[in-house]
Amino acid sequence: MASVGQQGVAGVSHVFPLGSRLGEAGRLEIGGCDAIELAERFGTPAYVYAEDDIRARARAYMEAFRARADHFEIVYASKAFPCTAAYRLLVEEGLSCDVASGGELYLALKGGFPPERIYLHGNNKSEDELSQALEAGERMAPGQRVLLRVTPGISPSTHDYISTGQVDSKFGFVVDDVPRAVDRIRNLDLVGLHAHLGSQIFDLSPLEKLAEVLSSMGEYPLLNLGGGLGIAYTADDRPPSIEDYAETLLRSAPEGVTVLCEPGRSLVGNAGVTLYRVGTVKRIPGVRTYVAVDGGMSDNIRPMLYGARYEAEIADRFGGEVLCTIAGKHCESGDILVRDVLLDDPRPGDVLVIPATGAYGYAMASNYNGITRPPVIFCSGGEAREVVRRETYEDLTLRDV
Ligand code: LLP
Repeated sequence: MASVGQQGVAGVSHVFPLGSRLGEAGRLEIGGCDAIELAERFGTPAYVYAEDDIRARARAYMEAFRARADHFEIVYASKAFPCTAAYRLLVEEGLSCDVASGGELYLALKGGFPPERIYLHGNNKSEDELSQALEAGERMAPGQRVLLRVTPGISPSTHDYISTGQVDSKFGFVVDDVPRAVDRIRNLDLVGLHAHLGSQIFDLSPLEKLAEVLSSMGEYPLLNLGGGLGIAYTADDRPPSIEDYAETLLRSAPEGVTVLCEPGRSLVGNAGVTLYRVGTVKRIPGVRTYVAVDGGMSDNIRPMLYGARYEAEIADRFGGEVLCTIAGKHCESGDILVRDVLLDDPRPGDVLVIPATGAYGYAMASNYNGITRPPVIFCSGGEAREVVRRETYEDLTLRDV
């Protein structure tokens, strides 16, 4: 049997949410909902998620670890999609949650995570954020349970901006400094070590070393090995399965230790697509065809920030032979969502879908050019519900004093 996310349905590649299919007249369905009807009902751009996809991947994580370890915790790296509806799903699935700021802590609590299942981390937490965490869980006090973030000196092969395990990093203590750090926090209850090598990792071998390196630094009840499992953004991407990832992390973990991992992207990335409406098609003969949509760098900054590559399709005419470049509507030449993608003769009014936008799209959205942020729609079993509404122009002035 294929693992979660590895199989593709005829006509729809595995980058689309699980259960996506081309329905009647070749129209895309997400979670049983017709994409064009969603675009009409909720407007565009819109972040559309297949709820069952998030649940399936959460379950795959739980099952993969349960099959191989007695003590583990799957900790949702909520920076990937800090939306209360997503927190709510994942608390139901039995996950824990990590938050990187007071704001994410607030959202996790609103989303129903009990404080004892929340980990606060990242560099440079303010006194305020620490007391906020303390109030929520009464944890940051003498005897407080903490993990120490270690920079293990292992570099994964990924984009520099999302690589964190190397020595030259703002995160954590380098190996040589760990004994001194341990000494300085003797009033706290040091329960384990934490490391995160980086994101969008396809080659698992650096992760294999990680548990080894951390366990060589002393005996602790918890080892948090971070997140980072990569996902398929394009049909050619073949990331390792959740099972292989679990196997790798657990292989070198010492007996009796509780292993934690912090998946973000691999839980929610493929669950989401973005729907746009095509506004204009500009053909420059012999040069390029620009297909301009009603969003862009304000709803997905990843192509501009990391050179991230995506696919695109017209929601009711998958495939095609026309080489196009998908441009956003922002006042920058760099506002290109997808360069060189084959589409079926796009026309103004078409609904264009970009898959695999479920992680770090909503999370890093902005109001650049006064563009209002898209709504979030959850779909399951043919029912669609709006879990975050579209921003309004009025929202843009809400904080003005
Ligand atoms: N744990 C820690 C300590 C992290 O810093 C991160 C991500 C994760 C877990 C989750 O990593 P994931 O499983 O999602 O790869 N904005 C970038 C990604 C930045 C990731 C930052 N830390 C992007 O859009 O690719």
